[in-house]
Amino acid sequence: MTNLVVVIDSGVGGISVLHEIFKQKLNIDLLYIADNLYLPYGNKSEQFIKNRCAKLITFAANKNACAIVIACNTATAYGAEYVRSLYPHIPILGTEPAIKPAVNLSNNGNIGLLATAATAKSMRLTNLVTRYAPNSRVIIQACPGLAEQIERGELASIKTKLLLQKYVNPLLDNECDVIILGCTHYPFIKPLLKQIIPPHIKVIDSGYAIAKYLYDTLNKRFTNLTTTDNTQTVTFMNTSPLNNLTHVLPIFWLHEFNHASLLNL
Ligand code: DGL
Repeated sequence: MTNLVVVIDSGVGGISVLHEIFKQKLNIDLLYIADNLYLPYGNKSEQFIKNRCAKLITFAANKNACAIVIACNTATAYGAEYVRSLYPHIPILGTEPAIKPAVNLSNNGNIGLLATAATAKSMRLTNLVTRYAPNSRVIIQACPGLAEQIERGELASIKTKLLLQKYVNPLLDNECDVIILGCTHYPFIKPLLKQIIPPHIKVIDSGYAIAKYLYDTLNKRFTNLTTTDNTQTVTFMNTSPLNNLTHVLPIFWLHEFNHASLLNL
């Protein structure tokens, strides 16, 4: 077993989770894979997403990763169970909308959830809501096009703002006092969202919880897991020959990294 942790997403979104993992200062090497040849996952079929997820996880498993993080709500919704059955010996952590914390944070029981269309209609999300929020009103808003705007680096453009406004309006109409970011791309537009919503509305995502869970998982396997001097290496790969991630990384990743190379998958 290596000390490699592989983090995957359809694009740059999972970097919001990578940030949280990096902040933990662990003695690990991080490989981030953006499947940007097939972005967005949010408008793809269940079978397609499941197959891509399996391809990426198989690649990570062949690299002897000590853990894999699916830093994508959409891929988790359709692929997590399947890939865990393929590689039961590797911890495969998924990303799910933070329903349970939202229930604890809400004062009025009205919770808004922004997600991709695929996540919004997934059975996994329905089950999550039934399980953790039986007494709340969860307004699920699909946000087609939003992840693509973020992927282009348009974190504050008028177009992104108008699109976000359109998706947030129904949540405001329903008096939601908590908004869950149910797609890992969305934390990158949290500042924009804050401009749109009243200050009393809380905004939450799952990044920190995943990083903490990864820490707990690895801590059972490694001694000396944490480090004071940050020795983590971070390498990026992407699957689209036309969209090398290196060009947009200065917007999303402010630390050192190894250049993004092409992964033919
Ligand atoms: N970042 C992804 C998620 O958390 C998916 C975005 C997309 O490819 O549609 O769901």
